[in-house]
Amino acid sequence: MSVIVQPDARKALREATHPAHVRLNKHPLLKNLTAPGYPLAHYRTVLTAYFGCYASIEASIDDALRRWPVEFSYADRRKLPWLAEDLAWFGRDVPAGQASPSPGLIVDQFGLYGVLYAIEGSSLGGRVILQGLGKHLGLTPAQGARFFAGYGEDIDQRWGEIVALINDRLTEPAALDSAIRSANGTFQLIETALDEHAASLLA
Ligand code: HEM
Repeated sequence: MSVIVQPDARKALREATHPAHVRLNKHPLLKNLTAPGYPLAHYRTVLTAYFGCYASIEASIDDALRRWPVEFSYADRRKLPWLAEDLAWFGRDVPAGQASPSPGLIVDQFGLYGVLYAIEGSSLGGRVILQGLGKHLGLTPAQGARFFAGYGEDIDQRWGEIVALINDRLTEPAALDSAIRSANGTFQLIETALDEHAASLLA
């Protein structure tokens, strides 16, 4: 009897990005995000840093979907409006205009899935973070924490759709390699943006 082993691209992506995820969890701007005493100024800085990198990440997704059309719509997953809403609540202006795609982030049709893995997966952490922001900083989805509220009660379903998509499209080793590169590239973009903003805040 032969056993058919189904590829598990999500598992491979999780393993390959684990070191980057651990590094981000320990980042000076993120490590105490859910703890008492986390400064509100740090939270506002995280939102500003995220706005810059999500602008180029989402521009990269739009660009990839134009170049390699597939049956998937990103439209109702867009996170930039949520970040803009939070920044507006804190009275911060957001840069106007359309951001450019991040050069080299998505280099072929499979790169899209690695980026989606990273940013949609990060909504899972949002659940824990929203609780902490509410408890310690008094924030709610309508009051400065829209981004981390994410899909709310629909999170499991929305994440399940992404996992199914990833496992369906990343069946070849070269496709998975490309997605792993873009997933790690996405983590790297976020880390770099946080580093730049941390340098000015913590200087
Ligand atoms: C303070 C910052 C963060 C915390 C506390 C955090 C926490 C978590 C937690 C608790 C989970 C698992 C949730 C579950 O299984 O229900 C998770 C999953 C995940 N997070 Fe984060 N996270 C943080 C930042 C990030 C960032 C910045 C990214 C990158 C964009 C990210 C990407 C992911 C991904 C891709 C997963 C899914 C892993 C998988 O199961 O395949 N996280 N995070």
